[in-house]
Amino acid sequence: MTGLFITLEGPEGAGKSTNREYLAECLRSHGVDVVLTREPGGTPLAERIRELLLTPSDESMNADTELLLVFAARAQHLAEVIRPALARGAVVLCDRFTDATYAYQGAGRGLSIERIATLEAFVQGALRPDITLVFDLPVEIGLARATARGRLDRFEQEGRAFFEAVRSTYLKRASAAPERYRLVNAALSLSEVQSSLSILIPELLSLLADRRHA
Ligand code: TMP
Repeated sequence: MTGLFITLEGPEGAGKSTNREYLAECLRSHGVDVVLTREPGGTPLAERIRELLLTPSDESMNADTELLLVFAARAQHLAEVIRPALARGAVVLCDRFTDATYAYQGAGRGLSIERIATLEAFVQGALRPDITLVFDLPVEIGLARATARGRLDRFEQEGRAFFEAVRSTYLKRASAAPERYRLVNAALSLSEVQSSLSILIPELLSLLADRRHA
């Protein structure tokens, strides 16, 4: 039996965490087994790697080190949480996954796409998200929301050009594979965003049913 792998992507301040809870509640109200998780992180060891990645430090982190840490955390998360949940037929709702690596380490840090693709194949094999929701909003709104939340993490301290590159990578990836990506206008009010998400629920339930009968 296989479940459904749904990822949520977008820049800082896009409301992914709040909306992830909302989606989980909607699916659970239909009796679906939902596993909510996030990257980097999702297991105790991967959360320790998250700390390394997000905490500002006097020693600047080499971009290759950053890339390898992201995939090290992902390997642990896949083995301990994502693959077992999918195998038992659950819906995995994951806040960020490898699209974030293409956006942040690829476009943001300027690392080669080929190198990221090689690690993606090594760590994930053939596993890719079934559906990716991209919460899109103008960079200045996202940064203002992140700043209002308090102390900025190592990524949030980057400048506007970094986040413009992140945003345009998400948009490019979404338009290149419309069957997998769904764009969500995260600049709207919370209730408007949630009604756009609730429209997706029947599609997600029917995808899940197809999986189970395949
Ligand atoms: P957040 O999930 O709380 O937004 O923070 C995670 C940060 O990690 C975010 O700034 C994006 C960054 N990140 C990467 O740079 N590469 C990745 O592959 C992932 C999953 C996250």
